[in-house]
Amino acid sequence: MSSSDSATRVVSGMRPTGRLHLGQYHGVLKNWVKLQYEYDCFFFVADWHALTTAYDDTTTIGRHTFDMVVDWLAAGLNPGSSTLFVQSRVPEHAELHLLLSMITPLAWLERVPTYKDQIQKLGDKDLSTYGFLGYPLLQAADILIYRAGHVPVGADQVPHVELTREVARRFNHVFGRETGFEELAEAAVAKLGKKASRLYTESRRAYVEQGDTEALERARALLAGNQNLSIGDVERLYGYLEGGGRIILPEPQALINEAARVPGLDGEKMSKSYGNTITLREPPEQVETKIRTMMTDPARARRTDPGDPANCPVFALHNLYSPPDLLAWASEGCRSAGIGCVDCKKPLIDAINAEQAQMRERAAQYEDDPDLVNSILQEGSEAARDVARETLEDVREAIGLA
Ligand code: TRP
Ligand code: SF4
Repeated sequence: MSSSDSATRVVSGMRPTGRLHLGQYHGVLKNWVKLQYEYDCFFFVADWHALTTAYDDTTTIGRHTFDMVVDWLAAGLNPGSSTLFVQSRVPEHAELHLLLSMITPLAWLERVPTYKDQIQKLGDKDLSTYGFLGYPLLQAADILIYRAGHVPVGADQVPHVELTREVARRFNHVFGRETGFEELAEAAVAKLGKKASRLYTESRRAYVEQGDTEALERARALLAGNQNLSIGDVERLYGYLEGGGRIILPEPQALINEAARVPGLDGEKMSKSYGNTITLREPPEQVETKIRTMMTDPARARRTDPGDPANCPVFALHNLYSPPDLLAWASEGCRSAGIGCVDCKKPLIDAINAEQAQMRERAAQYEDDPDLVNSILQEGSEAARDVARETLEDVREAIGLA
């Protein structure tokens, strides 16, 4: 795989937190399920990342990994359409992390906003470690080792993708400047074939001389579709377009998850630490009980009091689950006190349980036979390693370690 695949490649990771809840499903996982049909996706369990904030609590990592991956599969991630693996089974991430650490200024890590935030928020934990400071760089390695073009993350993680871009740029700048670059690049242009090399040269000139970004895109598309050049030549030509050296590690873009704010049972954001969640595969009776006792618009203290759906966390869930006619029914009935909250919640309970029925069914085979999950992760990890090794070979060569 070369940087020409970068446009179609997606990487993302999740810390092993155990069973997932509806907030994580609507905020992250559902998006992954969709992306797997549109991109070449690598999704992994970020177990090393879990160590960066909780090295003293490792007994649950195995169980949490299993439970979370069963949820991935239950939600529709398909090992035939995406590569599912465990970070620590692909030690190449660690080697790239080490190599990147050599060129990463300390100040870049110290100014990552999550660094100081987390230290404040997780005051009871020991975060004064080298691993914790370096964790955004580990994340950069996770991404760059697959030369991913896109990284689906929540808004809080965008600074990490920004850091990844800066580190990639610096790496290419420091190690992509081989002697005779221009000559090698021109030779590669010639190898494109007559028509393509003319188009490349014209587009490059239009970009370099007039800043024509459409021309830049045209030239990139041309390289992406090219089948004849070696990886090294393709990297040269990407770099040559922008006037720098070879692009060994392409810069990724964040694909920001639409922040589907899923309210928890108490109306606060749904979160494991608040204890206000509905998980993905809960017994139907439990879903029913939870929704029945879920907070509603406080204005509706009595059945005859009208309410406002905008102030009701139940309605926010309706928005995720119900078709327009049902939403209109709930909204009108709420404002006019034509329906009670019990009536309003009924179709929501049914909708959540219908969604979960399918997940429970998918999960059953994995719960019955955990080895199935292990072999999916084993195969995924091997496939990921094959790609990671290729990148590392290029990286070692660029550094002069080959
Ligand atoms: N840091 C991310 C989180 O805490 C998880 C993560 C690790 C990740 N490596 C990644 C996400 C690479 C995207 C890409 O949620
Ligand atoms: Fe919420 Fe529905 Fe009750 Fe209105 S009727 S307060 S939207 S649960």
